[in-house]
Amino acid sequence: MRYVLLLLISLNFAYGAKVVEVGERFEDSKKCKSCHLRVVNEWEESWHSKSHYENDEYFKASIDYVSQKTRKSLNGVKVQCATCHNSRISVTSTGSDYEIASIMGLAKGSKVDKAVNSDNISEGVNCVVCHNIDKIHNEYDDSKLGINRVEWTESGAMTGPYKDAFSPYHKTISHEFMNEKPNDLCFVCHANDRSVKGLVFSDMKNEYQDEKKSCVECHMGPQRKGIAASYRTNEGKTVERMVRSHGFAGAHIDSLWKGALKLELSQKDDNVLIEISNPQAHNIPSGFGSREIVVDVVSKNGDAVLETKSISLTRYYTRRNGKPTIAHLAEEESKDLSIPANGKKILKVPTLHGTTAVEVTLSYRLVNDEVISLLKLKDLIWSEKKYIAKESLKVKSSF
Ligand code: HEC
Ligand code: HEC
Ligand code: HEC
Ligand code: HEC
Ligand code: HEC
Repeated sequence: MRYVLLLLISLNFAYGAKVVEVGERFEDSKKCKSCHLRVVNEWEESWHSKSHYENDEYFKASIDYVSQKTRKSLNGVKVQCATCHNSRISVTSTGSDYEIASIMGLAKGSKVDKAVNSDNISEGVNCVVCHNIDKIHNEYDDSKLGINRVEWTESGAMTGPYKDAFSPYHKTISHEFMNEKPNDLCFVCHANDRSVKGLVFSDMKNEYQDEKKSCVECHMGPQRKGIAASYRTNEGKTVERMVRSHGFAGAHIDSLWKGALKLELSQKDDNVLIEISNPQAHNIPSGFGSREIVVDVVSKNGDAVLETKSISLTRYYTRRNGKPTIAHLAEEESKDLSIPANGKKILKVPTLHGTTAVEVTLSYRLVNDEVISLLKLKDLIWSEKKYIAKESLKVKSSF
């Protein structure tokens, strides 16, 4: 029996998408620093660089939780999530033979173990994830994402926005999804995400409302004059190019939230109407379950506070037995309370007797209280409120 299992392990569990090994000269961003320092520095600040079990507490806790509740091996779950989070992993799916080997303690040193612990994937969504994509299979349906939607270039061939780039260090290839159609690149991973039960809990591609403004326009900033590489190829000079920031500023970055939604207050009879509108191309919150918009309402009489109230716009997930769980294990979800792309939502709050003014503050949280407690998240970044907008309104009481 042991012999048969060992044989299985040596054959190994490498099914799934086609893997192209990344050569040592290209495997991490340090290798690019000497010529692309600006880009590397910007990317290091982004959450793409933190997309790894060891570098993102929320991601780690979610993987642990999924493994615990589904009784699947930790490495089996890591491989599953790597589809989009660590796409250059060298094993793209595991089967029941790995699960058996893992339970029997025979998986140590296997190809799967090596793959999930490899330095190759420790940088998450790094340079050779985006810039080694050679083909995006847009004809595939939306259940095939990340690794399963792309083909890789040969090691050391970088795809980029320029048709006439020359580099002494690597080959260059120009592709549409690096200039005219960058959304195709982002939608390789940011399209939808589904639970182990098949529930689609995020749906960015279908929500998307603005064909004119692409993801890079907002999340990499406008194109500006600069240099793509500090290496002097142009008769001893650098080439001037149109470039973009690689900060991929998003939900974790406070400064972007200010003004991300518009807030307007009005009075109708004995109610205050809170209108929240979203000028962005996708819903907010979007992309990931259990994010939260918090609407804090303070009713005042002169300087005295009569009442404070907090309204939460978030989503809750349950298993079949109705017990709370995280999005990745959900069978059912609560109503969608997000603010639609290029749309709005109006909340109606009754005015309390004696109210002369109402103050409303809008903020955002990365994770709602239910999931913070399920996963026992410790870092304060998950619960911190990020300021979006504030308005106040004088109220005429009819009482
Ligand atoms: C289809 C691609 C895809 C797969 C597969 C996937 N994710 Fe993600 N995940 C994403 C994207 C894209 C984001 C960023 C969305 C956002 O920030 O709104 C994300 C964000 C997250 C976050 C939020 C991280 C943070 O810092 O706020 C967690 C936690 C997470 N994923 C857990 C998992 C786990 C656990 C698995 C495997 C069971 C998994 N993901 C599989 C695409 C995927
Ligand atoms: C999430 C995908 C993604 C990741 C990760 C990424 N890039 Fe890019 N990169 C792009 C896109 C898209 C463009 C084209 C931007 C444009 O001009 O519209 C680009 C452009 C570039 C350019 C051309 C100059 C510029 O700044 O626009 C260079 C050089 C480059 N990337 C290098 C890197 C390096 C080095 C890394 C790793 C530190 C990296 N990229 C990580 C998507 C990515
Ligand atoms: C020895 C210097 C050097 C190193 C090291 C280097 N590059 Fe480059 N790279 C260049 C030059 C030069 C260009 C062309 C710039 C131009 O034409 O404006 C370039 C262009 C690019 C482009 C744009 C290609 C296109 O067709 O638009 C990408 C993407 C890129 N490099 C990624 C990387 C990545 C990722 C690494 C690290 C694994 C890396 N480079 C390491 C010098 C280098
Ligand atoms: C290979 C998969 C993949 C591709 C391609 C990809 N992303 Fe991501 N992206 C992720 C994952 C995974 C995360 C979540 C990382 C985490 O929080 O740990 C993420 C997070 C983000 C965030 C949230 C950052 C934050 O601070 O909350 C933004 C914004 C983003 N990506 C924009 C883009 C844009 C724009 C593109 C296209 C140019 C793109 N991504 C392409 C996988 C991808
Ligand atoms: C018109 C500008 C705009 C465009 C276009 C845009 N976004 Fe955003 N996005 C925002 C703003 C503003 C926020 C909220 C503020 C923040 O994330 O800091 C946001 C939030 C996000 C988040 C965090 C999601 C959340 O609600 O928690 C992700 C992930 C993201 N965007 C990815 C993308 C991707 C992928 C595309 C292209 C399909 C895209 N965005 C297109 C402006 C834009």
